[in-house]
Amino acid sequence: MLASSRPANRPQVKPTITGSNGQPRPTGAPPTAPSRPANRPNVKATVKPGGASSPTPQARPVPRPIPRPAPPQTGPRRMAQELISASGKRTIRELNMQGQRVLLRVDFNVPLSDGKIVDDSRIRAAVPTIKALLDGGASVVIMSHLGRPDGRVVDGLRLRPAAERLTQLIRVNVPTTGDALGVGTDDAVRRLRPGELLLLENVRFHAGEERNDPAFAERLASYGDIFVNDAFGAAHRAHASTVGVAAYLPSYVGLLMEQEVEALSNLLEKPARPFAAIVGGGKVSGKVAVLEALIKKVDLLILGGGVANTFLVASGRSVGKSLYESKMVDDARRILKLAQDRGVRVLLPVDGVVAKEVTRGTEFKVVSTDKLPASWHMVDLGPASITAIREALAPIKTILWNGPLGVFEIPSFAVATRELAKVAAEKADAGATVVVGGGDSIAALRQLGVAEKMTHLSTGGGASLEFLEGRDLPGLAVVPTAGSPYETLPIIYVSPVKPGGKAAAKRAPAKPKPIIKPSALDDEDDESDTLA
Ligand code: 3PG
Ligand code: MG
Repeated sequence: MLASSRPANRPQVKPTITGSNGQPRPTGAPPTAPSRPANRPNVKATVKPGGASSPTPQARPVPRPIPRPAPPQTGPRRMAQELISASGKRTIRELNMQGQRVLLRVDFNVPLSDGKIVDDSRIRAAVPTIKALLDGGASVVIMSHLGRPDGRVVDGLRLRPAAERLTQLIRVNVPTTGDALGVGTDDAVRRLRPGELLLLENVRFHAGEERNDPAFAERLASYGDIFVNDAFGAAHRAHASTVGVAAYLPSYVGLLMEQEVEALSNLLEKPARPFAAIVGGGKVSGKVAVLEALIKKVDLLILGGGVANTFLVASGRSVGKSLYESKMVDDARRILKLAQDRGVRVLLPVDGVVAKEVTRGTEFKVVSTDKLPASWHMVDLGPASITAIREALAPIKTILWNGPLGVFEIPSFAVATRELAKVAAEKADAGATVVVGGGDSIAALRQLGVAEKMTHLSTGGGASLEFLEGRDLPGLAVVPTAGSPYETLPIIYVSPVKPGGKAAAKRAPAKPKPIIKPSALDDEDDESDTLA
C-alpha cells in the first residue's frame, strides 16, 4: 500500500556511488557481503540454489563451464551524477562491459497472429539497452519468454519472429537457438564475439523457468558473466530468467527498466495536479489493490470497460447481461466509499453501447446506464460518457491510463477507447503528462498514430499495476542498489506463490496457444481480461 508519498518499492535515498565501475568479479573467491537494497523489506528467505541443504549462493563457487574472455580493465570513473540510477538500482551505465558476455533478460512476449507480430512495442523498447551493450563491446545472450507454453515446446510460441523483427530494428543479425539450453546452445554461446548477439529459444519451454528452478537458473547463468534485467513487463514474475540467474551473476538493470521505474515513480511521487487515473479492461479482480492505491493519489478516477460495470452494480444500477463480477461488488463499494471520504471524484459511465451478443456484426444501440436492458451486453461507453470524460479531463495535468473502455477487439465497440486515445493526444500536446499502460490502450494510440506523443508508454501490464500498487517487483528487487560493488550478489527474493499454488491453479489447463490476442498484454490474467 502506498502509505507515504514515496512508493514502498522505491529506495528512500539515492545511494552514493562507490566507484567500483567495471571491476571483474573474483572467480572462486566468495564475494563481499551482499548489501540489501532498501526497497526490499519483504525478502522472505535466501534461495539456496541446488536445494535446501546446499550453501548460499554467496558462499558457493559457481561452476563456469564456458571459457570466458579476459576480464575487462576498470573503466574511467564517470561522474557520480551520471551513474546514479533513476530506479535506485545498479544499471548498465555503471558497467564497463567491454569483452564481457552479458546475459540479458528482455520481455519479447509480443502479441502474435498467424505467426506475425501484431505490436512490436516491447521489442522496440529493448533496443536502446541491446545497442548500448553491443556498442560497449559486450557479446549479448538474450533470454525471453513468449506466451504460456507451460514447460512444453509449442511451435507457435517460438521466438524466431521476434528475432527477425529485432534484426530489422538493429540491423545486426540475431540468430536464435533451437533450445534455451543444450549442447548446440553451449556451442553458439562459446562462439560469440564482442559486438555479437544471440537469442535463446523461449525459456518457458522448460518447466524450470516458471518454477525458478535453481539448476535451470544455474545453467542459464553459465551463458553470461553479467546478468542484465531489462524485462520490465515480466518483472512481477519470480522466474529463473528474471530472478534465479541473479544468484550466480552480478546483476544490473537495463535502460528500459530504469525508464519505466522512473516514469511510474514520478507519477506517484510528484504528479502535476490535478491528477486523473483512467482504468478500464475486463475485470476488477486483480485491480482492487491498484484502485485502492490510486484513490490515495489521484483527484479523479474514470472507470470504463467491465471494471465500470461492477462499479455500476455497486452504485445500485443493474447491468443486464453485461460482464461484471458479483464477488467484487463489495470491494467496488468500499473503493467508492474511500473515494468519497477522500474527496476523489469517480466518473462512471452515464451511457453505453449495448449489443445483443458480444460478436462482430451483432445488433447494437446506445442507452442510458440508468436503463440498461436486461438481455443486452454493455460493450462500449456511449457518446455522453465520452463527452463527460473529455470535460472532466479538461483541467487535468497528469493522466494515467490503463485498459480499454470497451470490447476493443471488435472495431464497432472500440469507439470510446479510440476517442480517449484522441483526448490523451490532445492533452499531451497541451503539455499534460500522459502515461499509458496495457496492450489495448497502446494499440489504440498506435492506430491513431499518436503513441509517440505520450510522456511514457509502459511495456508492463501486470507489472505496471503491481508497481503502482507499491509492491516489490521480484525482477527489480533482485538487482543490487546503484553503486554497490560489482561483486555484490543479491539475497534472492522468493516468490510467495509456490508451483501448484494458487496462481498456478488459476491458470487454464495446459493447451497450445498458437495465437495470442492483441489484448494479451493487458494485465496479469490476460485471457480473462476481456469484456466478452
Ligand atoms: C505480460 O505480458 O504480462 C508479461 O510478459 C508476463 O507474462 P505472463 O503474464 O504470462 O507471466
Ligand atoms: Mg501478463
